[in-house]
Amino acid sequence: MSHLRKVLVTGGAGYIGSHTVVSLVHSGYQPVILDNLSNSNPAVLDNLRDILQQDLIFYRGDCRDQDLMHSIFNEHQLSGVIHFAASKAVGESVEKPLLYYSNNLDSLLVILENMDQYGVANLVFSSSCTVYGQPDHLPVTESTERKPAASPYGNTKKICEDIIFDVVQSPASLKAISLRYFNPIGAHESGKLGELPIGTPNNLVPFVAQTAAGIRDSITVFGDDYNTPDGTCIRDYIHVMDLADAHVKSLNHLDQQETDACYDVFNLGTGNGNSVMEVINSFQEVTGAPVNYQIGGRRSGDIEQIFANVEKAQRELGWTASKNLQQALADTWKWQQTLMKSV
Ligand code: NAD
Ligand code: UD1
Repeated sequence: MSHLRKVLVTGGAGYIGSHTVVSLVHSGYQPVILDNLSNSNPAVLDNLRDILQQDLIFYRGDCRDQDLMHSIFNEHQLSGVIHFAASKAVGESVEKPLLYYSNNLDSLLVILENMDQYGVANLVFSSSCTVYGQPDHLPVTESTERKPAASPYGNTKKICEDIIFDVVQSPASLKAISLRYFNPIGAHESGKLGELPIGTPNNLVPFVAQTAAGIRDSITVFGDDYNTPDGTCIRDYIHVMDLADAHVKSLNHLDQQETDACYDVFNLGTGNGNSVMEVINSFQEVTGAPVNYQIGGRRSGDIEQIFANVEKAQRELGWTASKNLQQALADTWKWQQTLMKSV
């Protein structure tokens, strides 16, 4: 397997990272997974081996562990790094800002230092549409102004983007892409991989799936008095396997850049906005499973609506979302049923 191009995938046991590992292997890359399992389960690695029918290189450890990083960069001749590892719960970041600044910023710094030291040029970074806040115009393009972050988590994404930008401008040779994900949902079509809910989900689709499965009595729709067609908030829900594919395309794109320094940002969404009620209704239609819901008050910090302009990713990466909301919800339900069988 030594002819395969190796890619360090930090956070590769997590939700988006694990699905990206599948796409990387199918595209001829050899992932080197690093994860401290702070928000994932070792069973994910068994499921990945099962889907891929091959063994995987896995390090259990922390991105901030300099010794471990040195040994990984020494051991493997890496062609690039995809950096997913981060703490991601918005509410928790308000309670524990230092944990978020430490984990999300220090992890990136250690990776950048090692990439520089070992001459690894290509970086793909997980950013978020949260950097746009509530935009003044829709859909948002990559040049839409970034708003002041509404949470320490969101601020870490802005700062990480800025750190990468600064390093690219420096004499260090770095080629980097920040991918601004809209709302990732769905699961691998096999039903063997998906988002592992730890505690009560904060996000809409896992909560809907758990309600349909009878784990929760009902879901509260946070507000139906927004200035949208049905009064509920609008988001751009993107299938996680489409996201995974975009990471492979981003690596390929960086490989093709002949300069030794460049930086780019891409929105990853479908380009369509769906309301909370459309998600709940579609879920019921696709799965046949009833979802009890009630209308509640607005959730503090929520923005009314956001969806992506995805022309840039289409034009420059050759990427476009191939799966729609219905497929994502069907795959979520398949994964939810797998989880229930394993309890
Ligand atoms: P996740 O929590 O499922 O995956 C992150 C993984 O990183 C976990 O497996 C966790 O154990 C690991 N990790 C965390 N800190 C680490 C460290 N210091 N060292 C090693 N491993 C560490 O999250 P996800 O949903 O897969 O998100 C991946 C990335 O995408 C994150 O950077 C997140 O902020 C970003 N993102 C996610 C969403 C979303 O809705 N899921 C939206 C926008 C951006
Ligand atoms: C949240 C984060 C965002 C992060 C994203 C993906 C906040 C303010 N934003 O975005 O930074 O990138 O998750 O992880 O937390 N909803 C309900 N009932 C529920 C849950 C959600 O009505 O029980 C509604 C929300 O009000 C929102 C929509 O569903 O309108 C989507 O919510 P969610 O899945 O939490 O994602 P975001 O709020 O878009």
